[in-house]
Amino acid sequence: MKGTAGAAFGRHAVLAALGLVMGSAGLNPVFAQSGPAPQNWMHPGGIIARWQLNVFHVSLAIVLTVAAVVSVLLIYTLWKFRDRSYRPGLERKADPAGLPPQIDGNHTLEIIWTVIPVILLVVLAVPTVRTNYLLASPPPSDPIPVRVIAYQWWWAFEYPEHGVVTANELRIPVGKPVQLTFESNDVIHKFWVPQLAGKMDVIPGRINQSWLQADREGVFYGQCAELCGPSHAHMRLRVIAQPEHEFEAWIASYGREPQPRSEAEAAAFHRGMEIFAARGCSACHTIEGTVFQGKVGPNLTGFGSRMTVGAGIMSNTRENLARWVTNPGALKPGVMMPAHDLSREEQDALVTFLHSL
Ligand code: CUA
Repeated sequence: MKGTAGAAFGRHAVLAALGLVMGSAGLNPVFAQSGPAPQNWMHPGGIIARWQLNVFHVSLAIVLTVAAVVSVLLIYTLWKFRDRSYRPGLERKADPAGLPPQIDGNHTLEIIWTVIPVILLVVLAVPTVRTNYLLASPPPSDPIPVRVIAYQWWWAFEYPEHGVVTANELRIPVGKPVQLTFESNDVIHKFWVPQLAGKMDVIPGRINQSWLQADREGVFYGQCAELCGPSHAHMRLRVIAQPEHEFEAWIASYGREPQPRSEAEAAAFHRGMEIFAARGCSACHTIEGTVFQGKVGPNLTGFGSRMTVGAGIMSNTRENLARWVTNPGALKPGVMMPAHDLSREEQDALVTFLHSL
């Protein structure tokens, strides 16, 4: 029994060590599908994340230098002043005469170990304070305003200048700053897209602000970083940075009525729409360009173009969406959306309808 427990502990220790090594090497197996470690903040994708990484590099250099100097001095002292009279098995001599000279009250030493840390702290303070001012200052050019509203457990993104509302996937043009304001609908959440910017608290009754900018195209992974309830870990998001013309095209296509490509698709679409209304989906969800204007759950306009279902937890495939609409609570504990008892035919029609958006 003891041996088995020991072996299990050993296995876990090896796995943990392996995970640590792979994680730091950017090879996290969880994200194998989406490239190496998409939440690795040491590979910044925007100017804010780069400023923050610079501060980290300066502090890391100082900390490592201090650690190296102190370690060398410590090892030297331990070796040089070791008790040479000691032999294993012999009784120790209690001879005060064998002690090294006592040097408390050495002014030169005290001045040195006061002045050096002061210099180090000043060197560290300059980039830290400078970066804090940079982060608090407005972006260099006209930003796109976006309202971020956190819900248990998903994100709403509103583009007031464009009349666009979406959920869990924030689309932004590459190279343009985006001004974010953060509000919470319920409890404290935290917005974090590691490769674009550090964490920002999202607090009920308060509006926080920050801006970010992506310097390269790509999908940047983010998540809520404040424990906010049973599905905190399922409160994920993506920032999709795309060329400006693609972003403009996405804005222009928003809320346009879907165009079925065949008779059969049109029939499935209308059947899905019926189910969406009859099963009460429309009480919570808005779809622009239709009569559905519910305000409780995520806005589903353009849902067909989203990458994921359930705030980033699964890819947006037909099977996953069918699983989600029939029993979301099994995939996301505590979710507000109720389960729906749908026949195979109803599931198919509803999924076709949602994917056509
Ligand atoms: Cu929202 Cu954790």
